[in-house]
Amino acid sequence: MKLSLVTILSASALVSAIPVAEPEPILGERQAAQSIHDAYVAKGKKYFGTCTDPGRLNAGSNAAIIKANFGQVTPENSMKWDATESSKGNFNFGNADGLVKFATDNNKLIRGHTTVWHSQLPGWVSSIRDKATLTTVMQNHISTLMGRYKGKVYAWDVINEMLDEQGGFRSSVFYNVLGQDFVRIAFEAAKAADPDAKLYINDYNLDSASAGKTQGMIRNVKNWISQGIPIDGIGSQGHLTAGQGANAPGAMAALCAAAPECALTEVDIQNAQAADWTNIVKACSNQKNCVGITVWGVRDNDSWRPQGNPLLFDSSYKAKSAYNTVLAAINAS
Ligand SMILES: *[C@@H]1O[C@H](CO)[C@@H](O)[C@H](O)[C@H]1NC(C)=O
Repeated sequence: MKLSLVTILSASALVSAIPVAEPEPILGERQAAQSIHDAYVAKGKKYFGTCTDPGRLNAGSNAAIIKANFGQVTPENSMKWDATESSKGNFNFGNADGLVKFATDNNKLIRGHTTVWHSQLPGWVSSIRDKATLTTVMQNHISTLMGRYKGKVYAWDVINEMLDEQGGFRSSVFYNVLGQDFVRIAFEAAKAADPDAKLYINDYNLDSASAGKTQGMIRNVKNWISQGIPIDGIGSQGHLTAGQGANAPGAMAALCAAAPECALTEVDIQNAQAADWTNIVKACSNQKNCVGITVWGVRDNDSWRPQGNPLLFDSSYKAKSAYNTVLAAINAS
């Protein structure tokens, strides 16, 4: 039998007339309307992420929100020196392994954080006074920590917060004992430990292009790259207060021009106005080599500086208007 077009059309009209039960939306599974990570990937970026750690992932809706809305995780504390090598040569990777397992199981990118930092640094490291010992200690720490997760981490903050507010070097055991050479030592050890990871310098108060610290970062990174030090990126933390978003696009334009890639790595905005979040998104979206944005936590009252509700979800894990502002800014970019 030959079916006529009329037969087919009327058959399908009949089918569509039969009411079909719609599946009930599962409320609470996704706390926000649309994933800001998916939206940012659709615009050509690699991720929109957040920091977390196993303690948080086991509490409340953190894991569900991260699975649904974010595509990258940074360990808030679990990979820092005091957490991973609190006494010489005794490594503890319990929480770091847990974070990496969550990320790997759920297809989230990882930003490793951090290998060389003056803070959350055990006293046995900060009391070292000779170059040879400190060099070996740094090399061993970097190769053991980064080597453990080789191939699983998208980017590492190899050095965190090395500059002072004028763009010179902060006093730290690393600078005081080794001078600027600690930068080369750290990045060469990092490159050897995980050759495919993107290696970053990360710092805060890089939120205005004209700031001495921003200019110092740019000058130093260009100089080190020209010397062959394997630096792939500059991370701007982005811990802001109301109104500071305005300078972020200009700051990122300047920073991103100084390195192969760049990222906003720890964003939170106290007492944010909508324009601050819009400007933060623009700051990354406007730069082709800005790979993504990470906010420093999920829920306002879990923030390291909870005053001024600096994050995208409220204390009941509800997406705030800030979340929708970010989403709209991404979609408009
Ligand atoms: C955050 O707020 C929630 C809801 O009010 C509360 O249950 C929780 O204890 C708070 N957590 C912190 C760390 O303040």
